[in-house]
Amino acid sequence: SFEEGASMLLTYGTTIHALVDRGHIKAGDNLLVLGAAGGVGLAAVELGKAFGARVVGAVSSEEKAQAVRDAGADDVIIYGRAPFSKDESKALAEQFKEKGGREGFQLVYDAVGGDYAEPALRSIGWEGRYLVIGFPAGIPKLPLNLTLLKSCDVCGVFWGAFAAREPERNRGNIRQLFDLWQQGKIAPRVTEVFPFERGGDAIAKMAARGAIGKLVVRVAD
Ligand SMILES: NC(=O)c1ccc[n+]([C@@H]2O[C@H](COP(=O)([O-])OP(=O)(O)OC[C@H]3O[C@@H](n4cnc5c(N)ncnc54)[C@H](OP(=O)(O)O)[C@@H]3O)[C@@H](O)[C@H]2O)c1
Repeated sequence: SFEEGASMLLTYGTTIHALVDRGHIKAGDNLLVLGAAGGVGLAAVELGKAFGARVVGAVSSEEKAQAVRDAGADDVIIYGRAPFSKDESKALAEQFKEKGGREGFQLVYDAVGGDYAEPALRSIGWEGRYLVIGFPAGIPKLPLNLTLLKSCDVCGVFWGAFAAREPERNRGNIRQLFDLWQQGKIAPRVTEVFPFERGGDAIAKMAARGAIGKLVVRVAD
């Protein structure tokens, strides 16, 4: 459908670039996805599973947790709402670490930022990759000593610039996405379609943290 088509490119194009080109994902990796019920978040859950990772999704409500389980996540964390005190930040780091197991997460997919970033970085494993996707909760600052202690990489992800600079590699990624879509391994989840006059409501819903998957605004019938 046009709705599914409109929902696919940005979210999955970003995520395949993040996980494969920047994160070098491989089967058996432990992947933590922050904001896992959002647009790029659900794409990261599905693609993580398609590439054979163990996926833990982190979200702010039980309704979102169910959407993440339905998308195939192996485990789910429900976190509180930032801002966090020092103790709350420590407690969240412990929650992430517990789900990461003995070796921690090889990959953290961070499309949230803010006070969620440092606790997530604390749960990363040896030589892990921390993927920087976006900052709806604010632009975080990270203590660089943690990267030394984990020998880990913090990797910026800018899909639009990658697609402009390396169109052939991007084309290959998109081809792979269509193959995965045809195999039924990925499917954008459109939870609401708004008429153009109510486009503002769709934006307000995202800003209020109320969106699950993709909201689509229909420009014309
Ligand atoms: N780097 C790139 O190339 C690239 C490409 C595409 C998108 N992005 C960026 O990725 C981010 C996520 O995009 P998206 O389409 O997935 O958005 P989205 O559907 O709104 O998802 C963002 C998630 O962030 C969480 N969140 C935490 N604090 C929030 C707050 N104060 N306000 C709103 N959401 C908050 C929410 O999940 P919980 O409530 O569960 O925490 C929400 O589901 C955006 O910043 C976007 O610009 C980057």
